[in-house]
Amino acid sequence: MRMWGGRFQGTSDERMAEFTRSIDFDHALALDDIAASIAHVHGLQRADLLTEDEVETLVRGLASLRADVENGSITWDPSLEDVHMNLEVALRARIGPVGGKVHTGRSRNDQVATDMRLWLRRTLDDLDGSVVEMEKSLVGLAVRDGDAILPGMTHIQPAQPVLFAHHLLAYVEMLERDRGRMTDCRRRANVSPLGSGALAGAGYPLDREATAAELGFEGVTANSLDGVSDRDFVVEALASFALCMVHLSRLAEEITWWSNPRFGFVSAADSFSTGSSMMPNKKNPDPAELVRGKSARVIGSVTAMLTLLKGLPLAYQKDMQDDKPALFDAAATLEASLMVMAGMVATLTVNRDRMRAAAGEGFTTATAVADALVRRGVTFRAAHHVVGGLVGEAERAGVALDALDDATIAAALAASDDAAAKKLAGDGGVPAELRKAAELEGAMAGCDVTGGTAPRRVELALAKARERLGL
Ligand code: ARG
Repeated sequence: MRMWGGRFQGTSDERMAEFTRSIDFDHALALDDIAASIAHVHGLQRADLLTEDEVETLVRGLASLRADVENGSITWDPSLEDVHMNLEVALRARIGPVGGKVHTGRSRNDQVATDMRLWLRRTLDDLDGSVVEMEKSLVGLAVRDGDAILPGMTHIQPAQPVLFAHHLLAYVEMLERDRGRMTDCRRRANVSPLGSGALAGAGYPLDREATAAELGFEGVTANSLDGVSDRDFVVEALASFALCMVHLSRLAEEITWWSNPRFGFVSAADSFSTGSSMMPNKKNPDPAELVRGKSARVIGSVTAMLTLLKGLPLAYQKDMQDDKPALFDAAATLEASLMVMAGMVATLTVNRDRMRAAAGEGFTTATAVADALVRRGVTFRAAHHVVGGLVGEAERAGVALDALDDATIAAALAASDDAAAKKLAGDGGVPAELRKAAELEGAMAGCDVTGGTAPRRVELALAKARERLGL
C-alpha cells in the first residue's frame, strides 16, 4: 500500500515507480533518519501529542530498527520508494498502528533535509580525520627525506632549488585550508530544519529548539520554506571536496612525473603500483593516476548540484532527491582518494641523488648569485644582467654556474656599467659568498624569510606541523 495512496486509484506504473524511488541510495541515511525520528518523538511528547506509553513504544521500536540497520539485517522494500517510508512501515510492522503517530507534524521534506544535515555532519567529521591522515603521511615523508633537494619549477622549467620538505609542506598548507573549508561548511549546515513541515511550518506547537538541541544542532533554520529547500550546504560540501580533490590531483600529477625514469626522483612501492597485461617491464603509478582522474567526477558533482538548484522555485521540489548520489559519491571518492594517497606517499622511495642532480641543472642558483651581488652593493637590475651573461657563458661552455672560473666572473663584473660591480672586479678574486650562493645549499640558505626554503625556516615549519599533528 502506498503511504500517500489515499487519493489515488489503481496502481503506479512500474516505470514511474522505478524512476522516482530513491531507496537504492538513500538507505545511507537510515541511521540519521532514525536518530531524527527519536528526537521528533520526544518533541511530540513535549507538545503533549503522545502519551508516555506511546513514546516508550515508539522509541523502543525505533531503537530496534537502528540495531537492525547497524547489523545489516534490515531489508529495503523498493516498492516503498524511499528510506523514510521504508522505516515507517517497518516501525509499524514492529509496534503496530501507534507507529502511525511518528509522522505527526512532520513531512518527508523537513525529514530529509534534517537527515542530510546529520549525514553530512558526521561525514565531514570522518573526512576531517582522513585529511589529517594525509597530512601526517606528507609530514612523515618530509621527516624521512625532507632534506633532499628538489628542482623547484615555474613554467615547468628549472627555477630555484627547494628542500623536498618545503615542497611537501606546501601540500600540507592546502590540506589545512581544505579542513578549514569543511569546518565552515559544517558550521553552517549544523542547524535543524525539523519542524518546518512540508513547507509552511509544522501544524503543532513543537519546540524546535529543544529537538534541535537533542540532535546536537547549533540552532534551527529560521524560515520553513528555506528550511525544506535549502541545499546550499550540499554545494558548499561538494565545493570543498572538489578543491581537496584538486589538491590531491596536483600531487598525483607530480608523483607520476617524478616516478618516470627520466626524472627518477621517487619510486612507488610495489604495493602501490600496478603492471601491464602485455608489457612485462611496466610498473605504473595507477593509484595516483586514478586520484587525478576521479577528481573530475567530484568537480562535476559541484556543477551538477548547482545546476540542479538553479531553476528551482520554492520550496521542496523532487529534483532535490538527486542531491544524494552526487554528495554520497563525492564524499566516498574523496575519502578513498585520501586513503590511497596517504598510503602511496608514506611508502615512496626517494632517490636523493637523482633529485639533487636535477636540482643543479638549469642554473637554478642564478637568482641566489644575483642576490649575493646585491648584498655587495650592485643594483638588482645590473646583478641580473651580469648573472644572465654568466648563465649564457656557462650554457655555451656546457658547465654549471659554479664551475665557471674566477677570470670569467671577474670579466663579467668588469664589463658591467654598475660601479659596485666594477669595483668588485677591480678588487680581484671572486667574493666567497658568490661561490657559496652558486651552490645548492648556499642558494637555499639565502631564502631566509618566513615561509622560505632556507633549511632553518623549513625546520621550523616542519616542527610546527609535527607538533600540530602530534608526530
Ligand atoms: N526521497 C525524497 C528526497 O530525497 C524525500 C522527500 C520526498 N518528499 C516529497 N514530498 N516527495 O528528496
